[in-house]
Amino acid sequence: MALSFAQSTLFSKPSLFLSRNGFPNLAVSLSLSCFSTSAAVSSDNNRGHKWRQPAASVEHGGVKIAKDDVVRDDPTNNVPDTIFSKLGLQLHKRDQHPLGILKNAIYNYFDTTYPNKFDKFDDLCPIVSVKQNFDDVLVPEDHVSRSYNDTYYVDSQTVLRCHTSAHQAELLRKGFTHFLVTGDVYRRDSIDSTHYPVFHQMEGFRVFNPDDWEASGMDGTSYAAKDLKKCLEGLARHLFGAVEMRWIDTYFPFTNPSFELEIYFQENWLEVLGCGVTEQEILKRSGKTNNVAWAFGLGLERLAMVLFDIPDIRLFWSTDERFTSQFSKGQLGAKFKPFSKFPPCYKDMSFWINDSFTENNLCEVVRGIAGDLVEEVRLIDNFTNKKGMTSHCYRIAYRSMERSLTDEEINDLQWNVREQVENKLNVVLR
Ligand code: PHE
Repeated sequence: MALSFAQSTLFSKPSLFLSRNGFPNLAVSLSLSCFSTSAAVSSDNNRGHKWRQPAASVEHGGVKIAKDDVVRDDPTNNVPDTIFSKLGLQLHKRDQHPLGILKNAIYNYFDTTYPNKFDKFDDLCPIVSVKQNFDDVLVPEDHVSRSYNDTYYVDSQTVLRCHTSAHQAELLRKGFTHFLVTGDVYRRDSIDSTHYPVFHQMEGFRVFNPDDWEASGMDGTSYAAKDLKKCLEGLARHLFGAVEMRWIDTYFPFTNPSFELEIYFQENWLEVLGCGVTEQEILKRSGKTNNVAWAFGLGLERLAMVLFDIPDIRLFWSTDERFTSQFSKGQLGAKFKPFSKFPPCYKDMSFWINDSFTENNLCEVVRGIAGDLVEEVRLIDNFTNKKGMTSHCYRIAYRSMERSLTDEEINDLQWNVREQVENKLNVVLR
């Protein structure tokens, strides 16, 4: 088993249930730039805390996105203010930031191995249609990733992309055959040092023509799979040096066969990416009936945490100079020196859950109040009594990466958490 680290691939989870039954999947064709919708419904003033109200709009690649277009008081919307405020930040575009440094190092590998072959995109809008995010890459109707519990919905037909694969079909239709797409992706998730609801991925895609594989005597699929593995083993060596690697067979809706690459790093097998030979149907729909292709998707935080020794995923968002000043352009793998470790403070809370309770919803409430001061939310006790009522006890770890927190501040946060957990999640505190 590989070390589970910084957002493992959601799509390798089997297709399980449909919790968003009834949402129509009408296709909206969104262009590569950010969208603008019709009249927004009034925004919910209770969502944010008064000292952390984000701006009313953010900029993404020169395009303004109004908060009212993304955060709405509507049952088909589950985007909180804290997520909206991340939309324009594009950490992967900063050359001095570990994510930007890593992106550039991967670009270097592709530029030297395949000169002038791959087109690069790092500015595509993260607000995409359900069609782009799921249907175009053949994610089944009942796949868990489509659920309201796992994905941020702007409305019933629009989501914050949960993977960069959302752009595959569109770029293929536009005629691109070799491309890399880097961007921020959004997933509702639990809270710990390797999970954050916004992270960054890079997608790679390469199309082959019959000429490419016919000379080799192999069939197209075997040829593409072999080329894919060679390409990614080379990339792993470029980033990590002479590491031990292994390939694991897996499942993704959009590739077949599908693989995960693991590397042996600091005494653990670490899953670095998901990939595979693109499903023929995806190529066919973009008019490519005689071709074969491969695709991969890798999580930048996961790799950067290892390469730069970054112990907590929240640090990537830090604007503290003691963090930002430690990295410079082109310096892959400069080891991060923690500037100091502030003590954590633990608070437990127990409540009787109801049928609709989910851990992701709890985490969203906690993050909504404590923001990046929350380090971990962990289930420490779970039992069902004779009457069939289930109780959960969660331990919340509060810790700032930048300063010591006062007792008063933490007690305030915890009281707020208790109140909102009770009101928003309809659970009964014990
Ligand atoms: N989109 C997948 C994920 O986020 C990763 C992936 C991309 C797998 C391309 C295969 C091919 O989990």
